[in-house]
Amino acid sequence: MAAASSSLASALKRLQGKVALITGGACGIGEYSAKLFAKHGAKVVIADIQDDLAHSVVTAIGHSDSTFIHCDVSNEDHIKNAVDTAISKYGKLDIMFNNAAIGNPEPRIIDNDKADFERVMRVNVTGVFLGMKHAARVMIPTRSGSIITTASAVSRVAGASTHAYTCSKHGVVGLTKNVAIELGEFGIRVNCISPFGVATPSVMKYMRIDNKQALEEFFSSKGNLKGAILNEEDVANAALFLASDEAKYISGENLFIDGGFTNCNASMQIFEHGEF
Ligand SMILES: NC(=O)c1ccc[n+]([C@@H]2O[C@H](COP(=O)([O-])OP(=O)(O)OC[C@H]3O[C@@H](n4cnc5c(N)ncnc54)[C@H](O)[C@@H]3O)[C@@H](O)[C@H]2O)c1
Repeated sequence: MAAASSSLASALKRLQGKVALITGGACGIGEYSAKLFAKHGAKVVIADIQDDLAHSVVTAIGHSDSTFIHCDVSNEDHIKNAVDTAISKYGKLDIMFNNAAIGNPEPRIIDNDKADFERVMRVNVTGVFLGMKHAARVMIPTRSGSIITTASAVSRVAGASTHAYTCSKHGVVGLTKNVAIELGEFGIRVNCISPFGVATPSVMKYMRIDNKQALEEFFSSKGNLKGAILNEEDVANAALFLASDEAKYISGENLFIDGGFTNCNASMQIFEHGEF
């Protein structure tokens, strides 16, 4: 009976024995993912620029199951060092979760300066490119691995975010598909997840709303699926699925966690009016 319950417990740990690197793991979706991955048996390397927050996530998970490395994803030496830390500390890298990204405040193209546009592209696209490159470097010899990138609902719909952010999220989907084709030969899966709005610290900052519940209600009012609020755990669960062996034949996909939002064009809704 005791043996049966311990094998059931390990079966429920969907990342048992795996090693994951999560960029942007100090807060928001990355923090929840780091905690969930560790709960499912993974060793987790958190790579972020917010040292104090990241250290508190490591403390919450436990120092034997997680570690922090200061890493600006747009700096190739930092990314290389983060990947090499996973190898030196835990012996391998099974899951690369490119989750870090930034937004920008300026929606109008004529007010959007070049430096600001390039800053977003550097973190959100070049940072993901570097994460994929260095993950591939260590995954190719082992002929396995799962690379996941957080894109966004705005990788499918236009007009819901700034030009730079929208462009960056379209960009990582293209990169994901291309890299998935190249790395398929080595048994490495490459996918994106694309959430609708989640009231995380960065979104609250960019939308200038300091009440989490008010922002959740705002997103819910704009969403398609009623009666549910999208939160960090829902996004982390999608990443967990793609990281796990349950998704062993899924590659080159962009998994939407949006309650149907991006399938809908709000300008012409027959369901609202009941007739053409
Ligand atoms: N929250 C949403 O509504 C939403 C919706 C769709 C997609 N996303 C995406 O989800 C991901 C996580 O966003 P979040 O809402 O949890 O944001 P967040 O700000 O709460 O977390 C982002 C993390 O990335 C880190 N980061 C920022 N720049 C970095 C850099 N140069 N190098 C390393 N780390 C860096 C931050 O320090 C932070 O810990 C992002 O890719 C974001 O674009 C978020």
